[in-house]
Amino acid sequence: ISNCILITHCFPDICVVGVCRFPLGMSGGQIQDEDISASSQWSDSTAAKYGRLDFEDGDGAWCPVITDEPDSLKEFLQIDLRSLHFITLVGTQGRHAGGIGNEFAQMYKITYSRDGSRWVPWKNRQGKEVIEGNRNAYDIVLKDLEPPIVARFVRFMPVIDHSMNVCMRVELYGCEWLDGLVSYNAPAGQLMILHDMPVYLNDSVYDGGLGQLTDGMSGLDDFTQSHVYNVWPGYDYVGWTNESFPSGFVEIMFEFDRTRNFTTMKVHCNNMFSKWVKTFQKVVCYFRSESDWETTPISFSPVVDDVNPSARFVTVSLHNHMASAIKCQYHFADVWMMFSEITFQSGDNPTHKVDDSNTRILIGCLVAIIFILVAIIIIILWRQVWQKLLEKASRRMLDDELTASLSIQSETFTYNNNNHSSATSEQESNSTYERIFPLGPDYQEPSRLIRKLPEFTKASDEAGDSASNTSPASAQDGVPHYAEADIVNLQGVTGGNTYAVPALTMDLLSGKDVAVEEFPRQLLTFKEKLGEGQFGEVHLCEAEGMQDFMDEDFISDISENQPMLVAVKMLRADANKNARSDFLKEIKIMSRLKDPNIIRLLAVCICSDPLCMITEYMENGDLNQFLSRHEPEGQIALLSNAPTVSCRNLHYIATQIASGMKYLSSLNFVHRDLATRNCLVGKKFTIKIADFGMSRNLYSGDYYRIQGRAVLPIRWMSWESILLGKFTTASDVWAYGVTLWETLTFCKEQPYSQLSDEQVIENTGEFFRDQKRQIYLPQPPICPDSVYKLMLSCWHRNAKERPSFQEIHRILLECQV
Ligand SMILES: *[C@@H]1O[C@H](CO)[C@@H](O)[C@H](O)[C@H]1NC(C)=O
Ligand SMILES: *[C@@H]1O[C@H](CO)[C@@H](O)[C@H](O)[C@H]1NC(C)=O
Ligand SMILES: *[C@@H]1O[C@H](CO)[C@@H](O)[C@H](O)[C@H]1NC(C)=O
Repeated sequence: ISNCILITHCFPDICVVGVCRFPLGMSGGQIQDEDISASSQWSDSTAAKYGRLDFEDGDGAWCPVITDEPDSLKEFLQIDLRSLHFITLVGTQGRHAGGIGNEFAQMYKITYSRDGSRWVPWKNRQGKEVIEGNRNAYDIVLKDLEPPIVARFVRFMPVIDHSMNVCMRVELYGCEWLDGLVSYNAPAGQLMILHDMPVYLNDSVYDGGLGQLTDGMSGLDDFTQSHVYNVWPGYDYVGWTNESFPSGFVEIMFEFDRTRNFTTMKVHCNNMFSKWVKTFQKVVCYFRSESDWETTPISFSPVVDDVNPSARFVTVSLHNHMASAIKCQYHFADVWMMFSEITFQSGDNPTHKVDDSNTRILIGCLVAIIFILVAIIIIILWRQVWQKLLEKASRRMLDDELTASLSIQSETFTYNNNNHSSATSEQESNSTYERIFPLGPDYQEPSRLIRKLPEFTKASDEAGDSASNTSPASAQDGVPHYAEADIVNLQGVTGGNTYAVPALTMDLLSGKDVAVEEFPRQLLTFKEKLGEGQFGEVHLCEAEGMQDFMDEDFISDISENQPMLVAVKMLRADANKNARSDFLKEIKIMSRLKDPNIIRLLAVCICSDPLCMITEYMENGDLNQFLSRHEPEGQIALLSNAPTVSCRNLHYIATQIASGMKYLSSLNFVHRDLATRNCLVGKKFTIKIADFGMSRNLYSGDYYRIQGRAVLPIRWMSWESILLGKFTTASDVWAYGVTLWETLTFCKEQPYSQLSDEQVIENTGEFFRDQKRQIYLPQPPICPDSVYKLMLSCWHRNAKERPSFQEIHRILLECQV
C-alpha cells in the first residue's frame, strides 16, 4: 500500500473503508522508547514509554503529574513517527496494572504536527475537538479520525478535570504517507447560492497545509450532497467561480517532502453541468526542482464532457518530471469548478519501506513456486533425455522442445484438436504448469493447426511439404506429441505489442510472400496524428482508390471513388534493424487475419522508406471515445439531450468483440491488450478489434511502467499476467470481462479508477491469495445480472474455470436483450 487514500471506495452496496488501518507500533514495539515523550510524568515507572496500548510494563501506563492549575490541557503524551503518516484511527486504554490501577482519560484531544514546530488541533468534521475516551481502566476504545490526519508527530492531551487521576495507554493506526505531499495552497473556496440555498465550497478541514483535497474522501455526483451527515451542502468540495478569476484559472501550489519523479496527478472533479459546474478545460503545470521553476510547463486538456454529469477522477500525465514543488493552473470550463481530491503518483515511491508482511508472504510463495517449477523442469528434462534415448531416431524435434521447456517466461501454445475446439481457453490457460508434462492429452500435432488454417494448407502445398517436414511422421503411432514454441513478441512500431504468435507459425509465414499489395504513397492524404511511439507514428489518412486494393471477399459498404479513411502505421526512417524486421513480421501476421470483427490490413508501402502499413479505420473512432460521448437510454439522457446507445446495441457491440476474439483464439493468437480503446466503431455499431491503443497519449494513463519492464495495461490484466507474466487466451478472456465492464459503464471512468496503480497491483495479490479480500469491478447500473455473472466468470482466479470465447459468444447470443 503505497498510497493510503482508499477511505471511501464505494460500490453500489458497500463502502470499503480503508486499507490504511495498520497499528503503527506502540503495542507492536516498532516505535522506539525514545520516540515517545511527555509533558511530565508522575514517576519513573509511569514514564511516557509505558504509554503503549496493551502493555503492562512499569506501573502499567503513562501518568502525568497532578497539578492544581486551571489549565487542564497542559499535559500530553507525544509520539514521533519519524516520517509522515496517514492516521485514520486512534486507540486508548487506561491504567489497569493487573487490577491495582483505575485511572483513565474520559476525554482527550489530539494535536499534530508535520514539522515538529507548527501544531494543529484536530477537529472532527463538525468542528468538535474533544474525543470521548475510556469508561474503565482496561477496555480499549478505538476512535476513527474523521477527517484523517497527515502528520509525523501526534500528541494525546487528556482533559483533566481533577475529579480523578488520569493515565493513558495509546496506539495510532494508519499507514505511511507516500504521496509525499506536505502542503498545498489554493485560493479560498467560495460560496455559491443555488436556488436561494447557500452551498459552502470552502476547504473546511484545511489545517494550514493539507485539508479536504487530501482527506481521502471523494465527493458525490451531486455536490450539494455529502458522504458525511449533518454538514452543510457543498461540504465535500472546494470550489471557485470564474467571476472572481479574471485570468480564467485557479492556481494551486503543491509542496512535497523531497524531489520526486512524478508520473500522474489525479484530480477528482464534479461535473454537474446543469448547475454550471464542469471539470477543468485545461491544466498547465509548472515544476520546481532545487530552487528554480522550470520554464517549460506541461499542459493537458481533458475531454470536456457535457453529457455525463457524474463526478470523476481526471488523470493528468506528468511525464516523469522531477520536482519538489508543482504549481498548476486549472482553467475554467464553465462558471464553476469543484475539486474534492487531488493525488500525486511518483515513480520512486520507496515502497520497500512499508512493512507489508503480505507482500513478503506473496514473494515467498512466488519464490517457492519458482523452486517447485525448477524441480519439475529438471524432472522433465530427465524424462526427456530418457525418451530421447528410446526414440532417438524418430524424434528430431526434441531438442527444440527441451530448449522451449527451459524458458519459464515465454508462453506456450498448445494446438487444439479439431474436435476439442470448444475448449480452447481451458487448453491454453495452463501453460506454465501443464506444458511441462509433454505427453498430456491436450497437446497435439502442429500439423492439425496447419490444417485448420486454409492459408497454411495452401502455403504448405506450395512449399512442397513443409508441414510434414516440421512434424515427424509419427501422427499415427499413437503417442501424442506436444508442440511448444517460443513466442515471438512483436514490439509494434508504436511501442505496443501486437499479437503474440507461436514462433512455429512465424516460420511458416516467412515461407510465403506477403499477400497484400503495395499502395502508391502519393494517394494518401494526411488528416491527423493518432499516436506515436518509440519507432514510429500512426496517422489517420484518406486513401484514394483503395477499393482497387481490397479483396473481393472483403465486404464493405464504402461507395466507389470516395476517399476512404485508413490508419497508417509508419516506421521512422531511422528505426533500427530489429524494428524493421519486426515491422515486416507484423505485416505478415496482420495480412493473415481475416474476420469481420478484426481490423484488416489493406495495403502496405514497403518498397521505399518510411515503411507503412495501411489498415482499416472506422469513421466513429475508438469505442472508448465513442461511448464516452453517449449515454444509456433513460432519464439523464432525456434531460441532457445526449445521444444514446440502446441496450440492444450495447449487446451487439459486446457480441462482436467476443466474435472477433473467438476468431483470434481459434488461431491461438493472444491479443494481450484487449480494451475499448483498441476497438474501432464503424457504421451501425459495427466493431473491429485493433491494437494501437498504447501508442496514443490520450490513454497513457491506462498503462503502468514496471521498472525495467514493459509498459502494461494492468487494469485490464489477469492476475497471472501481472504476477507470472503469463499471457494466454484465458488472460484475454479476463481483459474481455473488463472491456465488457467498460462498455456497460459507457467508459465514464477507468476500471478501478479509485485505486492507484500500486493498489491495483496489491489487489492483484489479493486475487492470487484468494482470501475473499480481492475487489471486483462493481456491477454497472444498467448491467443485467446474467451479464455481470459472465463478467465475474471472466475474472475467475482459476484460468481453467473462465469461459472460452466460444462460450462467451454463445452465452451472449442466448441472452435476451
Ligand atoms: C466553511 O464554511 C462553514 C459554513 O459557513 C463554516 O462553518 C466553516 O467555519 C468554514 N470553514 C472555514 C475553514 O472557513
Ligand atoms: C523518472 O522515472 C522514469 C520511469 O521510471 C525514468 O525513465 C526516468 O529516467 C526518471 N527520471 C529521472 C530524472 O530519474
Ligand atoms: C464564466 O464562464 C461562463 C461560461 O463559460 C462565461 O459565459 C462567462 O463569460 C464567464 N465569466 C467571466 C467573468 O469570465
